[in-house]
Amino acid sequence: MTIIDRPLVHRLLTSPLVGTLTAPHGVDRYLELVDPGMAVHDVRGRVLHIERQTPTTATITVGVNRAWSGHRAGQFVRVGATVDGVTHTRCYSIESTPTGPGPTTIAFSVGEVPGGTLSPHLVHELRPGDVLRLSPAEGDFVLPDEATPNLVLLGAGTGITPLIAMVRTLCATGRLARTDATLVAYAATPEDQLHRNELIHLAAETPGLRVVFGCTEQAGAGDLDGLFTPDHLGTAAPQWRDAELFVCGGRPFMSAVSAAVEAEGRLDHLHTEAFAPAFIAFPTDPADNGTVEFHSSRRRATDVATSILEAAEAQGLQPAHGCRMGICHTCTRTKLAGCVRNLVTGEVSGPEAAEIQICVNAPVGDVVIDL
Ligand SMILES: Cc1cc2nc3c(=O)[nH]c(=O)nc-3n(C[C@H](O)[C@H](O)[C@H](O)COP(=O)(O)OP(=O)(O)OC[C@H]3O[C@@H](n4cnc5c(N)ncnc54)[C@H](O)[C@@H]3O)c2cc1C
Ligand code: FES
Repeated sequence: MTIIDRPLVHRLLTSPLVGTLTAPHGVDRYLELVDPGMAVHDVRGRVLHIERQTPTTATITVGVNRAWSGHRAGQFVRVGATVDGVTHTRCYSIESTPTGPGPTTIAFSVGEVPGGTLSPHLVHELRPGDVLRLSPAEGDFVLPDEATPNLVLLGAGTGITPLIAMVRTLCATGRLARTDATLVAYAATPEDQLHRNELIHLAAETPGLRVVFGCTEQAGAGDLDGLFTPDHLGTAAPQWRDAELFVCGGRPFMSAVSAAVEAEGRLDHLHTEAFAPAFIAFPTDPADNGTVEFHSSRRRATDVATSILEAAEAQGLQPAHGCRMGICHTCTRTKLAGCVRNLVTGEVSGPEAAEIQICVNAPVGDVVIDL
Protein backbone atom coordinates (compact mmCIF):
# COMPACT_ATOMS: atom_id res chain seq x y z
CA MET A 1 0.00 0.00 0.00
CA THR A 2 3.03 2.15 -0.39
CA ILE A 3 5.12 1.36 -3.47
CA ILE A 4 2.19 -0.11 -5.43
CA ASP A 5 0.13 3.01 -4.92
CA ARG A 6 2.46 4.68 -7.41
CA PRO A 7 0.54 4.77 -10.72
CA LEU A 8 3.27 3.31 -12.94
CA VAL A 9 4.04 0.36 -10.65
CA HIS A 10 0.31 -0.23 -10.21
CA ARG A 11 -0.28 -0.24 -14.00
CA LEU A 12 2.53 -2.74 -14.48
CA LEU A 13 1.32 -5.09 -11.74
CA THR A 14 -2.26 -5.05 -13.06
CA SER A 15 -1.18 -5.63 -16.68
CA PRO A 16 -2.36 -8.75 -18.57
CA LEU A 17 1.29 -9.87 -18.92
CA VAL A 18 1.83 -9.97 -15.14
CA GLY A 19 -1.57 -11.65 -14.82
CA THR A 20 -0.44 -14.41 -17.22
CA LEU A 21 2.97 -14.80 -15.57
CA THR A 22 1.47 -15.17 -12.09
CA ALA A 23 -1.45 -17.44 -13.07
CA PRO A 24 -3.14 -19.38 -11.56
CA HIS A 25 -2.60 -17.72 -8.17
CA GLY A 26 -2.56 -14.11 -9.32
CA VAL A 27 -0.10 -11.34 -8.52
CA ASP A 28 -1.59 -10.57 -5.08
CA ARG A 29 -0.59 -14.00 -3.73
CA TYR A 30 3.07 -13.22 -4.57
CA LEU A 31 2.96 -9.60 -3.40
CA GLU A 32 1.66 -10.56 0.02
CA LEU A 33 4.70 -12.80 0.51
CA VAL A 34 6.78 -9.60 0.33
CA ASP A 35 4.42 -7.56 2.51
CA PRO A 36 0.91 -8.61 3.70
CA GLY A 37 -0.30 -5.10 2.84
CA MET A 38 0.71 -5.37 -0.81
CA ALA A 39 -2.13 -6.17 -3.20
CA VAL A 40 -3.36 -4.66 -6.43
CA HIS A 41 -6.65 -6.51 -6.95
CA ASP A 42 -7.71 -7.41 -3.39
CA VAL A 43 -8.71 -4.77 -0.86
CA ARG A 44 -6.32 -4.51 2.08
CA GLY A 45 -6.42 -2.16 5.04
CA ARG A 46 -3.44 -1.24 7.18
CA VAL A 47 -4.43 -0.35 10.75
CA LEU A 48 -3.56 3.29 11.36
CA HIS A 49 -5.21 3.99 14.69
CA ILE A 50 -7.15 2.13 17.39
CA GLU A 51 -9.32 3.98 19.89
CA ARG A 52 -10.76 2.08 22.84
CA GLN A 53 -13.84 4.14 23.71
CA THR A 54 -14.90 1.48 26.22
CA PRO A 55 -13.02 -1.52 27.65
CA THR A 56 -14.87 -3.90 25.31
CA THR A 57 -14.84 -1.98 22.03
CA ALA A 58 -12.25 -0.77 19.55
CA THR A 59 -12.75 1.89 16.92
CA ILE A 60 -10.32 0.96 14.17
CA THR A 61 -9.14 3.36 11.46
CA VAL A 62 -7.51 1.70 8.45
CA GLY A 63 -5.83 3.01 5.34
CA VAL A 64 -7.23 1.10 2.36
CA ASN A 65 -5.35 0.47 -0.86
CA ARG A 66 -6.06 1.39 -4.46
CA ALA A 67 -8.39 -1.62 -4.90
CA TRP A 68 -11.02 0.10 -2.72
CA SER A 69 -14.11 0.98 -4.78
CA GLY A 70 -15.76 3.42 -2.36
CA HIS A 71 -18.75 3.12 -0.04
CA ARG A 72 -22.12 4.61 0.89
CA ALA A 73 -23.17 5.60 4.41
CA GLY A 74 -24.54 2.51 6.16
CA GLN A 75 -22.64 -0.15 4.20
CA PHE A 76 -20.36 -2.77 5.75
CA VAL A 77 -17.07 -4.48 4.87
CA ARG A 78 -16.04 -8.05 5.42
CA VAL A 79 -12.92 -7.96 7.59
CA GLY A 80 -10.49 -10.88 7.59
CA ALA A 81 -7.75 -11.39 10.18
CA THR A 82 -5.68 -14.36 11.24
CA VAL A 83 -6.26 -15.87 14.67
CA ASP A 84 -4.16 -18.89 15.69
CA GLY A 85 -3.06 -19.41 12.10
CA VAL A 86 -6.58 -19.41 10.64
CA THR A 87 -8.09 -16.47 8.75
CA HIS A 88 -11.57 -15.59 10.00
CA THR A 89 -13.91 -13.14 8.32
CA ARG A 90 -16.76 -11.13 9.84
CA CYS A 91 -18.77 -8.09 8.74
CA TYR A 92 -18.33 -4.61 10.26
CA SER A 93 -20.28 -1.48 9.39
CA ILE A 94 -18.24 1.46 8.17
CA GLU A 95 -18.66 4.47 10.44
CA SER A 96 -16.83 7.02 8.32
CA THR A 97 -18.50 9.22 5.71
CA PRO A 98 -18.74 7.96 2.10
CA THR A 99 -15.56 7.48 0.12
CA GLY A 100 -14.80 7.24 -3.56
CA PRO A 101 -12.58 4.66 -5.25
CA GLY A 102 -8.86 4.55 -4.47
CA PRO A 103 -6.64 4.83 -1.42
CA THR A 104 -8.37 6.45 1.54
CA THR A 105 -9.15 5.83 5.21
CA ILE A 106 -12.24 4.18 6.67
CA ALA A 107 -13.20 3.42 10.26
CA PHE A 108 -15.34 0.83 12.01
CA SER A 109 -16.06 -0.08 15.63
CA VAL A 110 -15.97 -3.62 16.96
CA GLY A 111 -17.75 -4.70 20.14
CA GLU A 112 -16.31 -7.78 21.84
CA VAL A 113 -18.68 -10.76 21.73
CA PRO A 114 -17.52 -12.86 24.72
CA GLY A 115 -16.31 -16.26 23.51
CA GLY A 116 -16.41 -15.03 19.91
CA THR A 117 -13.78 -15.98 17.35
CA LEU A 118 -12.73 -12.69 15.76
CA SER A 119 -14.12 -9.78 17.78
CA PRO A 120 -11.95 -10.40 20.91
CA HIS A 121 -8.88 -10.46 18.65
CA LEU A 122 -9.83 -7.21 16.91
CA VAL A 123 -10.66 -5.47 20.19
CA HIS A 124 -7.68 -6.63 22.27
CA GLU A 125 -4.90 -7.93 20.00
CA LEU A 126 -4.91 -5.76 16.89
CA ARG A 127 -2.09 -3.22 16.65
CA PRO A 128 -1.34 -0.23 14.38
CA GLY A 129 0.56 -1.49 11.33
CA ASP A 130 -1.35 -4.80 11.17
CA VAL A 131 -2.93 -5.57 7.81
CA LEU A 132 -6.55 -6.66 7.43
CA ARG A 133 -8.12 -8.38 4.42
CA LEU A 134 -11.19 -6.40 3.39
CA SER A 135 -13.99 -6.86 0.89
CA PRO A 136 -15.45 -4.06 -1.18
CA ALA A 137 -18.24 -2.26 0.70
CA GLU A 138 -21.52 -4.16 0.63
CA GLY A 139 -25.11 -3.91 1.78
CA ASP A 140 -28.28 -2.00 0.99
CA PHE A 141 -28.91 -0.58 4.49
CA VAL A 142 -27.92 2.87 3.25
CA LEU A 143 -28.94 6.46 3.66
CA PRO A 144 -31.54 7.18 0.96
CA ASP A 145 -30.13 9.20 -1.94
CA GLU A 146 -33.01 11.62 -2.18
CA ALA A 147 -33.72 14.13 0.55
CA THR A 148 -36.46 12.59 2.67
CA PRO A 149 -38.23 15.04 4.97
CA ASN A 150 -37.96 12.86 8.09
CA LEU A 151 -35.50 10.23 9.21
CA VAL A 152 -35.55 8.33 12.49
CA LEU A 153 -32.48 6.22 13.23
CA LEU A 154 -32.58 3.78 16.15
CA GLY A 155 -29.48 1.89 17.27
CA ALA A 156 -28.66 -0.24 20.27
CA GLY A 157 -25.12 -1.11 21.43
CA THR A 158 -22.73 -1.57 18.51
CA GLY A 159 -25.83 -1.35 16.28
CA ILE A 160 -25.19 2.39 16.31
CA THR A 161 -22.28 1.97 13.86
CA PRO A 162 -24.02 2.23 10.45
CA LEU A 163 -26.20 5.02 11.86
CA ILE A 164 -23.09 6.98 12.89
CA ALA A 165 -22.02 6.99 9.23
CA MET A 166 -25.50 8.24 8.27
CA VAL A 167 -25.50 11.02 10.89
CA ARG A 168 -21.97 12.12 9.98
CA THR A 169 -22.96 12.19 6.31
CA LEU A 170 -26.14 14.17 6.97
CA CYS A 171 -24.10 16.73 8.91
CA ALA A 172 -21.21 16.87 6.44
CA THR A 173 -23.35 17.31 3.32
CA GLY A 174 -25.73 19.98 4.58
CA ARG A 175 -28.70 17.68 4.01
CA LEU A 176 -30.14 18.57 7.41
CA ALA A 177 -31.26 21.86 5.89
CA ARG A 178 -33.87 19.75 4.02
CA THR A 179 -34.26 16.74 6.33
CA ASP A 180 -35.15 16.41 10.00
CA ALA A 181 -33.27 13.54 11.57
CA THR A 182 -33.56 11.98 15.01
CA LEU A 183 -31.00 9.48 16.26
CA VAL A 184 -32.10 7.35 19.21
CA ALA A 185 -29.03 5.66 20.68
CA TYR A 186 -29.37 2.96 23.35
CA ALA A 187 -26.55 1.73 25.59
CA ALA A 188 -26.41 0.13 29.04
CA THR A 189 -24.93 3.26 30.63
CA PRO A 190 -23.64 6.61 29.30
CA GLU A 191 -20.07 5.23 29.59
CA ASP A 192 -20.99 2.39 27.22
CA GLN A 193 -22.34 4.74 24.55
CA LEU A 194 -20.07 4.78 21.50
CA HIS A 195 -19.33 8.26 20.09
CA ARG A 196 -21.39 9.91 22.84
CA ASN A 197 -19.37 13.15 23.00
CA GLU A 198 -19.31 13.53 19.23
CA LEU A 199 -23.09 13.00 19.04
CA ILE A 200 -23.75 15.58 21.76
CA HIS A 201 -21.54 18.03 19.89
CA LEU A 202 -23.16 17.36 16.49
CA ALA A 203 -26.69 17.75 17.91
CA ALA A 204 -25.75 21.05 19.54
CA GLU A 205 -24.12 22.39 16.38
CA THR A 206 -26.49 21.14 13.68
CA PRO A 207 -30.05 22.44 13.30
CA GLY A 208 -32.28 19.60 12.09
CA LEU A 209 -30.46 16.89 14.08
CA ARG A 210 -31.86 15.59 17.35
CA VAL A 211 -30.01 12.98 19.41
CA VAL A 212 -31.83 11.07 22.15
CA PHE A 213 -29.94 8.72 24.48
CA GLY A 214 -31.59 5.65 25.99
CA CYS A 215 -29.97 4.10 29.07
CA THR A 216 -31.07 0.55 29.61
CA GLU A 217 -29.29 -0.18 32.91
CA GLN A 218 -29.03 3.16 34.71
CA ALA A 219 -32.39 4.81 35.41
CA GLY A 220 -32.36 8.59 35.01
CA ALA A 221 -28.95 8.65 33.24
CA GLY A 222 -30.39 9.09 29.74
CA ASP A 223 -33.36 10.70 27.99
CA LEU A 224 -35.15 7.33 27.90
CA ASP A 225 -35.08 4.71 30.66
CA GLY A 226 -34.89 0.96 30.18
CA LEU A 227 -35.26 -1.31 27.17
CA PHE A 228 -37.16 -0.05 24.13
CA THR A 229 -40.93 0.22 24.55
CA PRO A 230 -43.32 1.55 21.86
CA ASP A 231 -43.87 4.82 23.75
CA HIS A 232 -40.14 5.60 23.35
CA LEU A 233 -40.82 6.25 19.66
CA GLY A 234 -43.36 8.99 20.38
CA THR A 235 -41.22 10.52 23.13
CA ALA A 236 -37.98 10.54 21.14
CA ALA A 237 -39.37 11.30 17.70
CA PRO A 238 -42.95 12.63 17.74
CA GLN A 239 -42.85 12.77 13.90
CA TRP A 240 -41.87 9.10 13.52
CA ARG A 241 -45.10 8.10 11.74
CA ASP A 242 -44.06 10.36 8.82
CA ALA A 243 -40.45 9.17 8.81
CA GLU A 244 -38.29 6.52 7.17
CA LEU A 245 -36.96 4.41 10.04
CA PHE A 246 -33.50 2.81 10.08
CA VAL A 247 -32.95 0.32 12.89
CA CYS A 248 -29.88 -1.68 13.89
CA GLY A 249 -29.10 -3.67 17.02
CA GLY A 250 -29.54 -7.04 18.70
CA ARG A 251 -32.38 -9.34 17.73
CA PRO A 252 -34.67 -8.62 20.75
CA PHE A 253 -34.31 -4.85 20.20
CA MET A 254 -35.03 -5.16 16.47
CA SER A 255 -38.05 -7.39 17.10
CA ALA A 256 -39.47 -4.93 19.65
CA VAL A 257 -39.05 -1.95 17.29
CA SER A 258 -40.45 -3.91 14.32
CA ALA A 259 -43.53 -4.92 16.33
CA ALA A 260 -44.17 -1.29 17.36
CA VAL A 261 -43.77 -0.08 13.78
CA GLU A 262 -45.96 -2.88 12.40
CA ALA A 263 -48.70 -2.09 14.94
CA GLU A 264 -48.94 1.39 13.38
CA GLY A 265 -48.97 0.02 9.80
CA ARG A 266 -45.56 1.57 8.98
CA LEU A 267 -43.56 -1.59 8.15
CA ASP A 268 -43.05 -0.35 4.56
CA HIS A 269 -40.97 2.48 5.99
CA LEU A 270 -38.77 0.31 8.20
CA HIS A 271 -35.19 -0.50 7.13
CA THR A 272 -33.25 -2.94 9.28
CA GLU A 273 -29.77 -4.40 9.63
CA ALA A 274 -29.13 -7.31 11.98
CA PHE A 275 -25.68 -8.11 13.38
CA ALA A 276 -26.44 -11.61 14.65
CA PRO A 277 -28.35 -14.45 12.97
CA ALA A 278 -31.89 -15.46 13.85
CA PHE A 279 -31.85 -19.20 13.34
CA ILE A 280 -35.20 -20.74 14.20
CA ALA A 281 -35.19 -24.02 12.36
CA PHE A 282 -32.45 -26.24 13.81
CA PRO A 283 -33.63 -29.85 14.00
CA THR A 284 -34.76 -30.71 17.52
CA ASP A 285 -34.94 -34.48 17.00
CA PRO A 286 -31.48 -36.09 16.49
CA ALA A 287 -33.17 -38.46 14.04
CA ASP A 288 -33.52 -35.44 11.70
CA ASN A 289 -29.75 -34.79 11.62
CA GLY A 290 -28.20 -35.14 8.17
CA THR A 291 -25.02 -36.21 6.42
CA VAL A 292 -22.92 -33.93 4.22
CA GLU A 293 -20.44 -35.13 1.63
CA PHE A 294 -17.94 -32.41 0.66
CA HIS A 295 -17.34 -33.59 -2.87
CA SER A 296 -14.03 -31.99 -3.93
CA SER A 297 -12.40 -32.35 -0.51
CA ARG A 298 -13.54 -35.99 -0.19
CA ARG A 299 -14.70 -35.43 3.39
CA ARG A 300 -17.93 -36.51 5.00
CA ALA A 301 -19.71 -35.11 8.05
CA THR A 302 -22.30 -37.29 9.72
CA ASP A 303 -24.97 -36.52 12.29
CA VAL A 304 -24.99 -32.84 11.30
CA ALA A 305 -27.44 -30.67 13.26
CA THR A 306 -25.73 -27.36 12.38
CA SER A 307 -25.30 -25.26 9.26
CA ILE A 308 -23.32 -26.86 6.44
CA LEU A 309 -20.70 -24.11 6.93
CA GLU A 310 -20.15 -25.16 10.55
CA ALA A 311 -20.06 -28.82 9.51
CA ALA A 312 -17.37 -27.98 6.92
CA GLU A 313 -15.31 -26.05 9.48
CA ALA A 314 -15.59 -28.96 11.92
CA GLN A 315 -14.03 -31.10 9.16
CA GLY A 316 -11.05 -28.71 8.97
CA LEU A 317 -12.26 -27.02 5.77
CA GLN A 318 -12.19 -23.24 5.44
CA PRO A 319 -14.91 -22.21 3.00
CA ALA A 320 -15.09 -18.50 2.17
CA HIS A 321 -17.74 -16.74 4.22
CA GLY A 322 -18.63 -13.31 5.57
CA CYS A 323 -21.77 -12.60 7.58
CA ARG A 324 -22.67 -16.22 8.53
CA MET A 325 -26.34 -15.21 8.41
CA GLY A 326 -27.48 -15.28 4.80
CA ILE A 327 -26.78 -11.63 3.89
CA CYS A 328 -23.58 -11.41 1.89
CA HIS A 329 -23.70 -14.54 -0.37
CA THR A 330 -19.93 -15.09 0.07
CA CYS A 331 -20.52 -18.68 1.20
CA THR A 332 -22.66 -19.68 -1.80
CA ARG A 333 -21.80 -23.21 -3.00
CA THR A 334 -23.40 -25.68 -5.36
CA LYS A 335 -25.54 -28.35 -3.75
CA LEU A 336 -25.03 -31.28 -6.10
CA ALA A 337 -27.70 -33.52 -4.56
CA GLY A 338 -29.97 -33.85 -1.54
CA CYS A 339 -32.37 -31.61 0.37
CA VAL A 340 -31.49 -28.78 2.77
CA ARG A 341 -33.46 -26.84 5.38
CA ASN A 342 -33.13 -23.05 5.46
CA LEU A 343 -32.35 -22.32 9.12
CA VAL A 344 -33.98 -18.89 9.00
CA THR A 345 -37.25 -19.71 7.23
CA GLY A 346 -37.54 -23.45 7.95
CA GLU A 347 -38.20 -24.06 4.23
CA VAL A 348 -36.93 -27.41 2.87
CA SER A 349 -35.50 -27.47 -0.67
CA GLY A 350 -36.01 -30.06 -3.39
CA PRO A 351 -33.25 -32.61 -4.20
CA GLU A 352 -32.13 -30.99 -7.48
CA ALA A 353 -28.74 -29.26 -7.89
CA ALA A 354 -28.84 -25.62 -6.80
CA GLU A 355 -26.71 -22.77 -5.50
CA ILE A 356 -27.15 -22.46 -1.72
CA GLN A 357 -25.76 -20.29 1.08
CA ILE A 358 -24.13 -22.90 3.27
CA CYS A 359 -24.19 -20.64 6.38
CA VAL A 360 -27.99 -20.75 6.60
CA ASN A 361 -28.73 -24.25 5.37
CA ALA A 362 -28.56 -27.60 7.15
CA PRO A 363 -28.81 -31.05 5.59
CA VAL A 364 -32.06 -33.00 5.56
CA GLY A 365 -30.89 -36.57 4.93
CA ASP A 366 -27.85 -37.06 2.66
CA VAL A 367 -26.51 -33.97 0.90
CA VAL A 368 -23.57 -33.54 -1.51
CA ILE A 369 -21.87 -30.12 -1.64
CA ASP A 370 -19.32 -28.99 -4.22
CA LEU A 371 -16.61 -28.03 -1.72
C1 LIG B 1 -23.96 -6.65 8.15
C2 LIG B 1 -23.28 -6.78 9.49
C3 LIG B 1 -22.65 -5.69 10.04
C4 LIG B 1 -22.02 -5.81 11.29
N1 LIG B 1 -21.42 -4.72 11.84
C5 LIG B 1 -20.84 -4.81 13.05
C6 LIG B 1 -20.22 -3.66 13.67
O1 LIG B 1 -20.19 -2.57 13.09
N2 LIG B 1 -19.67 -3.82 14.90
C7 LIG B 1 -19.70 -5.02 15.56
O2 LIG B 1 -19.17 -5.10 16.68
N3 LIG B 1 -20.27 -6.12 15.00
C8 LIG B 1 -20.81 -6.04 13.77
N4 LIG B 1 -21.37 -7.16 13.19
C9 LIG B 1 -21.25 -8.44 13.89
C10 LIG B 1 -19.89 -9.09 13.52
O3 LIG B 1 -19.88 -9.40 12.14
C11 LIG B 1 -19.63 -10.41 14.26
O4 LIG B 1 -20.76 -11.23 14.15
C12 LIG B 1 -19.31 -10.19 15.73
O5 LIG B 1 -18.16 -9.34 15.86
C13 LIG B 1 -19.02 -11.55 16.42
O6 LIG B 1 -17.96 -12.18 15.75
P1 LIG B 1 -17.07 -13.27 16.53
O7 LIG B 1 -16.20 -13.91 15.51
O8 LIG B 1 -16.38 -12.63 17.69
O9 LIG B 1 -18.15 -14.26 17.10
P2 LIG B 1 -18.55 -15.73 16.49
O10 LIG B 1 -17.42 -16.66 16.75
O11 LIG B 1 -19.00 -15.54 15.06
O12 LIG B 1 -19.80 -16.05 17.37
C14 LIG B 1 -19.70 -16.46 18.72
C15 LIG B 1 -21.07 -16.58 19.32
O13 LIG B 1 -21.67 -15.29 19.44
C16 LIG B 1 -22.90 -15.22 18.73
N5 LIG B 1 -22.88 -13.93 18.04
C17 LIG B 1 -22.35 -13.67 16.82
N6 LIG B 1 -22.48 -12.37 16.52
C18 LIG B 1 -23.08 -11.79 17.56
C19 LIG B 1 -23.47 -10.45 17.84
N7 LIG B 1 -23.28 -9.45 16.96
N8 LIG B 1 -24.08 -10.22 19.05
C20 LIG B 1 -24.29 -11.22 19.94
N9 LIG B 1 -23.94 -12.49 19.71
C21 LIG B 1 -23.34 -12.79 18.55
C22 LIG B 1 -22.90 -16.37 17.75
O14 LIG B 1 -24.21 -16.82 17.52
C23 LIG B 1 -22.06 -17.40 18.50
O15 LIG B 1 -22.84 -18.11 19.39
C24 LIG B 1 -22.01 -7.05 11.96
C25 LIG B 1 -22.64 -8.16 11.38
C26 LIG B 1 -23.25 -8.04 10.16
C27 LIG B 1 -23.91 -9.25 9.54
S1 FES C 1 -21.57 -16.04 4.89
FE1 FES C 1 -22.78 -14.36 4.20
S2 FES C 1 -24.41 -15.41 3.19
FE2 FES C 1 -23.29 -16.99 4.08
